[in-house]
Amino acid sequence: MSGYFITLEGIEGVGKTTNLNYVREYLERKGYEVVVTREPGGTPLGEQLRELLLTPRTEPVSDMAELLMMFAARAQHLFAVIEPALARGAWVLCDRFTDATFAYQGGGRQLASEPVALLERLVQKERRPDLTLLLDLPVEVGLARAHSRGVPDRFEAERVEFFQRVREAYLARAEQEPERIKVIDAEPPLAQVQQQIDRVLTGLERQ
Ligand SMILES: Nc1ncnc2c1ncn2[C@@H]1O[C@H](COP(=O)(O)OP(=O)(O)OP(=O)(O)O)[C@@H](O)[C@H]1O
Ligand SMILES: [Mg+2]
Repeated sequence: MSGYFITLEGIEGVGKTTNLNYVREYLERKGYEVVVTREPGGTPLGEQLRELLLTPRTEPVSDMAELLMMFAARAQHLFAVIEPALARGAWVLCDRFTDATFAYQGGGRQLASEPVALLERLVQKERRPDLTLLLDLPVEVGLARAHSRGVPDRFEAERVEFFQRVREAYLARAEQEPERIKVIDAEPPLAQVQQQIDRVLTGLERQ
């Protein structure tokens, strides 16, 4: 039996990590093996790449270098964690995945979707998430939530317009793939956000 691959997406501060734990508990109560992981990262090599990607630096970073490092981390993550877990029938919950690359590097950095799609095919072959929860919020609300946590990383230090483009790119993808990408309104209190997530997860079990 092959497992099920769920990703959580959205701009900073939308509640990805908070709700990932909620989904994990939901699935563990049902008795599934759940592997929780994140991108960039999820392996020792990937976590080092994450550190390199997120640390603010004075040297200007080429958009292409950033894109390739994201996919280098992803290649290792698929090889060492995601594919083995799915092969043994586990559920994989990942905090961000390739939709984030389409949104941040494609939309935010304005590389457009072609180079991202090319690397997606090269690195992932046929592998795509089975379900993606896209937590959506006005940019100012997300950034205010994220900033309440402390020093901004290299992405969080970007301007509001950058995150507007990221949000729009995410929503455009959801429109293209409505079966896979479920948009969750992340603005209301957590209990209401989680009711929406419950509805999506209950729908899965009926399939
Ligand atoms: N629905 C909500 N209403 C109010 N606050 C929330 C809600 N969901 C999450 N938060 C709070 O917002 C902050 C950011 O949440 P969280 O860390 O889960 O976001 P994230 O999407 O993982 O952010 P990042 O992209 O920076 O990792 C946390 O302090 C969290 O408790
Ligand atoms: Mg998080």
